[in-house]
Amino acid sequence: MEVVLGIESSCDETAAALVRADRVVLAQRIASQDAEHRPYGGVVPEIAARAHAERLAPLIAATLADAGMALGAVAAVAATAGPGLIGGVMVGLVTAKALAMASDKPLLAINHLEGHALSPRLADAALGFPYLLLLASGGHCQLLVVEGVGRYRRLATTIDDALGEAFDKSAKVLGLGYPGGPAVERLAASGDPRAVPLPRPLLGSAEPHFSFAGLKSAVLRAKQAGSHADADIAAAFQQAALDCVIDRTRRALDRAGPVAALVVAGGVAANRALRGALEALAEEHGLRFVAPPLALCTDNAAMIAWAGLERLASGQNDSLDFAARPRWPLDPEAEPVRGAGVKA
Ligand code: KG4
Ligand code: ZN
Repeated sequence: MEVVLGIESSCDETAAALVRADRVVLAQRIASQDAEHRPYGGVVPEIAARAHAERLAPLIAATLADAGMALGAVAAVAATAGPGLIGGVMVGLVTAKALAMASDKPLLAINHLEGHALSPRLADAALGFPYLLLLASGGHCQLLVVEGVGRYRRLATTIDDALGEAFDKSAKVLGLGYPGGPAVERLAASGDPRAVPLPRPLLGSAEPHFSFAGLKSAVLRAKQAGSHADADIAAAFQQAALDCVIDRTRRALDRAGPVAALVVAGGVAANRALRGALEALAEEHGLRFVAPPLALCTDNAAMIAWAGLERLASGQNDSLDFAARPRWPLDPEAEPVRGAGVKA
């Protein structure tokens, strides 16, 4: 059975994985760069690129050794080719090209967002197309109808910050360090969300787009006021953000057409409160709710290998001169959104 080698290096995780067509992850390794970036409170692109370059080759060798496989036994080499921090993406893509060339196997240049979008199908063989996907990470916040491999219809995006970015920036305001999402979730568990009134941007608006910049600023003002407990601010922030997400997702469900399931992916899908709220929303609409296991939600290479397998199965592969793309929308037809910055 076909096995694809996946490589991920678009942000601050260096990762390699071997995934078989029957959805078995034979081996995977992830080297996190949290320690390198923590002193700066965010990912520093130059540090990330150098760390990927130092770690990737030995990581791939160790992943192959874990599975007891030779490079020549893989069916194809898949790597994230964008969007992301261009230095890191180039390290992964160039490595994949070299391995594909050396082993005379096809190259699959994978859109990182496609990796997230298809990852729920790696975890759940019963998940068929189409499904409504909330893709929420540090760089993206989108609602997409996943109609098939390579067929994504974007219903909404953020007009300013991504959801994970809002968590990370709120964490910074509260002195919680990096990465912020999990720390905010932990602190929120001991706070009272009603103790701090915070805005819910775009709640109820006709288009299902997102906005989190105003919420982030309100968190900063609440902290500067000095009269609230940090746990209450964290809880109020998380509640406000989730209220927005649920309202926007409900709106998107109205416009999606018939879908088989409501699915969440991307790093923020690790948030348990978000999962619970989305599950309730799916139930309300009589839909299945699918969320990949936590390890598949944050950046990883198994999802890249899986997207590679899905594309291989539909007869696609890429040329060795495929260039890394710092920006690469999943739905090139989607209308640009007024006010949207780099996150569109
Ligand atoms: O998908 P991902 O690993 O990397 C990107 O492609 O951005 O997502 C990382 C993002 C970060 O913003 C992180 O703070 C957020 O996901 N995140 C969370 C949680 N775990 C990770 N946000 C909220 N709650 C969590 N438990
Ligand atoms: Zn990601």
